[in-house]
Amino acid sequence: MSNSYRPAFHFTPPANWMNDPNGMVWHNGVYHLFYQHHPHSMVWGPMHWGHAISRDLIHWQHLPIALYPDEHGMIFSGSAVVDWKNTAGFGEETLVAIFTYNKNHIETQNLAYSLDHGKTWKKYAGNPVIGYRDDLKDCRDPKVFWYEDHWVMVLAAGKHILFYVSPDLKHWDQSGVFDCERDTGDGIYETPDLFQLPVDGSYPRWVLTVGVAKGAYAGGSGTQYFIGNFDGRTFKPENPPETSLWMDHGADYYAPQSWNNEPNGRRLMLGWMSNWQYATLTPATSWRGAFSIIREISLKRNGDEVYLSQQPIPEMRTLRGKHTRWLEKIIEPNTNLLADIRGTSLEIIADFKLFYNARRFGVRVRVGKQEQTTICYETEPRTLSVDRTRSGRVDFHDAFAGIHSASLLPLNDVIRLHIFVDVSSVEVFANDGLLTFTDCIFPAEESQGLELFVEGGDILLLSLDLFQLKPA
Ligand code: FRU
Repeated sequence: MSNSYRPAFHFTPPANWMNDPNGMVWHNGVYHLFYQHHPHSMVWGPMHWGHAISRDLIHWQHLPIALYPDEHGMIFSGSAVVDWKNTAGFGEETLVAIFTYNKNHIETQNLAYSLDHGKTWKKYAGNPVIGYRDDLKDCRDPKVFWYEDHWVMVLAAGKHILFYVSPDLKHWDQSGVFDCERDTGDGIYETPDLFQLPVDGSYPRWVLTVGVAKGAYAGGSGTQYFIGNFDGRTFKPENPPETSLWMDHGADYYAPQSWNNEPNGRRLMLGWMSNWQYATLTPATSWRGAFSIIREISLKRNGDEVYLSQQPIPEMRTLRGKHTRWLEKIIEPNTNLLADIRGTSLEIIADFKLFYNARRFGVRVRVGKQEQTTICYETEPRTLSVDRTRSGRVDFHDAFAGIHSASLLPLNDVIRLHIFVDVSSVEVFANDGLLTFTDCIFPAEESQGLELFVEGGDILLLSLDLFQLKPA
């Protein structure tokens, strides 16, 4: 059998193509997840909304396709809400999806609704609710949420983000625009999200996340964010315009969206683990496209600085199987503490104390004769990197093989790496989610080794917990 690269605990479509997550909403005990889907092909094409549900955010059940393309166009990305107050008049507690129709590059914003908790969907007869704007290109990916006494829509529009308000989901007025042109590379903006989060010892802030289609941090498409304020009508950033903030420093975290209506008040997000540079070319058999693990987003404060932190949701712990632990060990060059361990679906939590004179240290995963993916901290300059130049198949696109790195300061002389490996991906959460890397890899099935390495001197490993993870 050929290598299917199918992960054990990451969400993938039953078959064929998937890109962005869409319409994420919790209702009646159920988390809904929709996604950009081409059910008849391994590459992008006429977009549908695929659908899955979960009660625990770990085990997902596939449901029939929710939205099909029709004479008005393909069903592009969007969001979903519970219309508690029946503002739209479709019925109490109706689920309403807000999506973009795309037909020959003409884009409009539209509604569909479900009267049976998301099982079946009807498109609204009065569509579009926002018509084609001939003054702007690439108007798409509406994110809608309730703000105090009205609906808000955040919409990507080329190099801008537009804000709209509505009493009833059907009538929308533009209330603001955020012009991000000054901040980023040469790509348009896509798939925005906007939410408020508390900050310890300070006032809450709003976070605007945007997909940057080209020229992102690790090349190609990636996710930028802005911290600021939102008054119910428009967003004003607080972070200085000359600093670009990136949600992830790997190459494969795009179009992330958060759940509306999360019952515990958490801000939970996941992203598409791919990059438009090579998304349609990755090695694949019967399916293509996976989502990241679900992350809880929070804001942390360090003096005057507020920054985003992302942590794997605690529900992930239910997947933990066989556990091995090491405590307080001095690691010397040319040794491998993990020589006896093998695996393709793993969680590793390691605390390294920068005490001795190590220059580089870290973990290699999916190690085989010719292959390895290296997660490495360098003490001078202080950077963390993921090196996938020899991770397995890299030949399908010139931009794939590469080293992704970002600066990371130790916390009390400690570097904490929290790593998830799952067949064809590596996700790294460093220093309690201050920095993350998401990278796809395509190693040979038999490349299952692990290495803990240090170069230039010894390092003190305070602790290392390694779990084999069970399939979801
Ligand atoms: C982002 C995106 C969206 C669009 C969708 C189409 O990856 O380009 O802007 O709605 O994909 O599938």
